[in-house]
Amino acid sequence: MKLNLKLYLAGIYSLFLSMLFLIWNGIDIKQIVEMIGFVFLMVLFNSEIVRDLQSNVYFLIVLPFFMPAIVYLDPFYAMVFMSVSAIIIFHKLIWYKKLFNISIFGIGILVSSLIFQYLYPDINGNVPIFNSGFFLAIVLLAYLNTLLNNVFIFIVVSLEKGKFDVNNFISLISSTKSAFITVFLGLINVILFYYLNLIGVAIFTFLVYFIKPALQYRQIFDNELSTYTNFVLHVLKQMDPITHTHSERVKFWTVLLATKMELPQSEIRQLSQAASWHDIGKIEVPIEIIDKPWKLTQEEYEIIKSHPERGYQLVKDMHFFKKFLPVIRHHHEKYDGTGYPLGLKGEQIPLHARIMAITDAFDAMTADRSYRMGMSMKDAVDELLRYSGTQFDAKIVSIFVEALQDEYGENYEKFDKKILMNLNVS
Ligand SMILES: [Fe+2]
Repeated sequence: MKLNLKLYLAGIYSLFLSMLFLIWNGIDIKQIVEMIGFVFLMVLFNSEIVRDLQSNVYFLIVLPFFMPAIVYLDPFYAMVFMSVSAIIIFHKLIWYKKLFNISIFGIGILVSSLIFQYLYPDINGNVPIFNSGFFLAIVLLAYLNTLLNNVFIFIVVSLEKGKFDVNNFISLISSTKSAFITVFLGLINVILFYYLNLIGVAIFTFLVYFIKPALQYRQIFDNELSTYTNFVLHVLKQMDPITHTHSERVKFWTVLLATKMELPQSEIRQLSQAASWHDIGKIEVPIEIIDKPWKLTQEEYEIIKSHPERGYQLVKDMHFFKKFLPVIRHHHEKYDGTGYPLGLKGEQIPLHARIMAITDAFDAMTADRSYRMGMSMKDAVDELLRYSGTQFDAKIVSIFVEALQDEYGENYEKFDKKILMNLNVS
């Protein structure tokens, strides 16, 4: 483990322990009972972490359970409650990761609960609970809590990688909106606790037991979807291995280029998936035309040229493909407007399609086919440069060339085509 990472972890642990020590103000049996009650109910609820596959962010569906703790428990007990819960939730992790999670969740809940106590010092008195300021404070606290946790995690991940990526930070901040998914459940729990104490939370537990499948629906749906799409990809591989292997290599080049462009991780992932589907329209083109070793007739060429539009028409109504549609439809557009199907020009062509136009053409030039050898990387780069600004977006071409030189040397001497051609054999 790197020294700065060790120091960061040690800092978080000591911050947690000193906060715990500083805010302890004696034993309060009533709060201990309530805290144990909360933990017991949380275990009953079988807390789980939900991973949102779209944004790749984890959030806790037990957040609603912490809300009454933030609002009604003494900050010390709220913090202990949160930490005990974290021990249970993260029991499988290695000790220093467990301790890290216990600390950041504890610190998060302490900050939230101190702010709440400051805003509503006499919460157990007659605070009008259906007050809009009260609701707003709860929403903000849930948000703050998630934000704090994510910032702590961002720092640890960056220290581990040895690099702070601003784009990742921005996508992390925007992902904290997931806190709102559970905040309204939390409000229900707060109200139930206000009127019925732990019995209210028990009722809430019972309710959530039925709601949980709906909360996890997206995760289940995404898992199913990726199974189905893998299945479709497998079928395509069997039906048209040429297009499949081409797509796998395009994926490889696209990830290389998108990474060099410093696009956010989520966008790189999207582009990588888009590469698998960019030629989906070719399933409507006879395989004899796709792999024809000699010159195509005009009619055959027209059929090949129809594949972006065919692909678009085929999948345009399927939600899963929505984000890949610009690539599927426009990866044969040319920067000067002479491409197809729509003859879009310059920045009218979606960015992802301009990227894929380059990596797609690059693979078509370099890959070996059964009837011909592909070009050398140097020759293919020369071709890209020749058509840079006319067929391709010049800025993206120059980034791609830089990425290739970073990877394979000034004259691409480290490039081994055999590795590339075997990329897809899996
Ligand atoms: Fe294509």
